[in-house]
Amino acid sequence: MADALKVGIAGLGTVGASLVRIIQTRANELTVTCGRAIEITAVTARDRNRDRGIDISGITWFDTPEKLAAEADIDVFVELMGGAEGAAPNSVRAALTRGLHVVTANKALLASSGVELARIAEEKGALLNFEAAVAGGIPVIKALRESLTGNTVSRVYGIMNGTCNYILTRMEKEGLSFADCLKEAQRLGYAEADPAFDIEGNDTAHKLAILTTLAFGTEIAADEIYLEGITNISIEDIHAAADLGYRIKLLGVAQQTDSGIEQRVHPTMVPHDSVIAQVDGVTNAVAIESDILGELLMVGPGAGGDATASAVLGDIADIAKSRPGAQRVPVLGTPAAALSPYKRARMQSHEGGYFIRLTVADRTGVFASIAARMAENAISLESIVQRAKPDSEDTAKTIILVTHATTEDSVRKAVDAIKRESYLAGEPQVIRIERPKAF
Ligand SMILES: NC(=O)c1ccc[n+]([C@@H]2O[C@H](COP(=O)([O-])OP(=O)(O)OC[C@H]3O[C@@H](n4cnc5c(N)ncnc54)[C@H](OP(=O)(O)O)[C@@H]3O)[C@@H](O)[C@H]2O)c1
Repeated sequence: MADALKVGIAGLGTVGASLVRIIQTRANELTVTCGRAIEITAVTARDRNRDRGIDISGITWFDTPEKLAAEADIDVFVELMGGAEGAAPNSVRAALTRGLHVVTANKALLASSGVELARIAEEKGALLNFEAAVAGGIPVIKALRESLTGNTVSRVYGIMNGTCNYILTRMEKEGLSFADCLKEAQRLGYAEADPAFDIEGNDTAHKLAILTTLAFGTEIAADEIYLEGITNISIEDIHAAADLGYRIKLLGVAQQTDSGIEQRVHPTMVPHDSVIAQVDGVTNAVAIESDILGELLMVGPGAGGDATASAVLGDIADIAKSRPGAQRVPVLGTPAAALSPYKRARMQSHEGGYFIRLTVADRTGVFASIAARMAENAISLESIVQRAKPDSEDTAKTIILVTHATTEDSVRKAVDAIKRESYLAGEPQVIRIERPKAF
């Protein structure tokens, strides 16, 4: 049997501690499956004395991740600390430069430095695996990087942040406000004390940037993503969406268009009977549309210590099974030197259906004026509904419009024109509609 694969782990938090426990308790099965033992020989974290509920007594402790990466007697460096700056990039760079294989779950690091790190790994003949960085336990990286080779991808989209999906699901099912659902998510440990990164869409954007590169063979362009979080979604929107046969999800969408690639993260209405609309709570889903395969949809746990450690372990096992000197799968699906520059499609030219909710004074002529502003911008309407504002003592009315496919530009112009009228009694709400192809 081949020598044991020696693994060093930097970061022993939620994911790291799960990984240590799983490798230790499944040692025999892993040896049989991989044809060699997987042995943790070095670890590090910030606090050496913290009780992590795992046994690291026989494992060499390093005081810093940089030192572990540079000096430990290991074959694989596993980075489970997080962060795009400081210890994570420094230690990953040091490990790759030494020719070590690297496994990481760090989407922030890949979104900011993925191409540079891929280049180093490829120069050194090392593997850089990151299945856990997008949608936790769902094997979407492997699907795009390996299984769909030869396919031309037209769109990849998904629910990739469990916190947002939990909040939106609770709002709909319990009729609770955004603020109440956020508090509950924090109490249950689904949302961070500072939830901005999740609810403003940045976390989804990091994951989307990685998927875009794998799907379209372009350089990572995390700063070129249109971003809208879920903080403005009200219970009224959720009810209106339900009445019209839709549910609201925070989607990350990357789409090839005639003018470039759209990357966008925003609250999205999806048809109630689509599979993605049924993905509730902290569960994630990723859909890939491509020309040879058609539509692939994967649903599963997007976070949590064990689910994420499962993906990390799969990456380590791939390394254990790989042959030294063998041809490596390019880190980002396409060799780093062959990635093409990212060409951004203007958000203004995005085409699709729109939901528009307007709060207006109850006056004659308002309905006709709104219809006229839509017509002036060549927007054709699927439906227009007027309803009394439920909890309002004044005479304001809500008007809900659903458009047929139109452009972002037209919708913005029409809404701006409506804003210049005197009858608006609140900020208009605009939510894009996305239609899955197959499911
Ligand atoms: N949790 C999930 O569900 C999940 C899902 C998908 C991906 N991820 C990714 O997995 C990674 C780890 O997440 P996590 O939830 O396990 O984080 P976590 O619970 O906060 O653990 C982070 C670990 O890294 C250590 N650490 C942080 N900075 C360090 C430094 N400068 N030097 C040495 N050690 C340092 C911490 O040490 P101490 O324990 O001593 O403080 C801790 O053990 C992140 O990139 C995250 O985005 C997590």
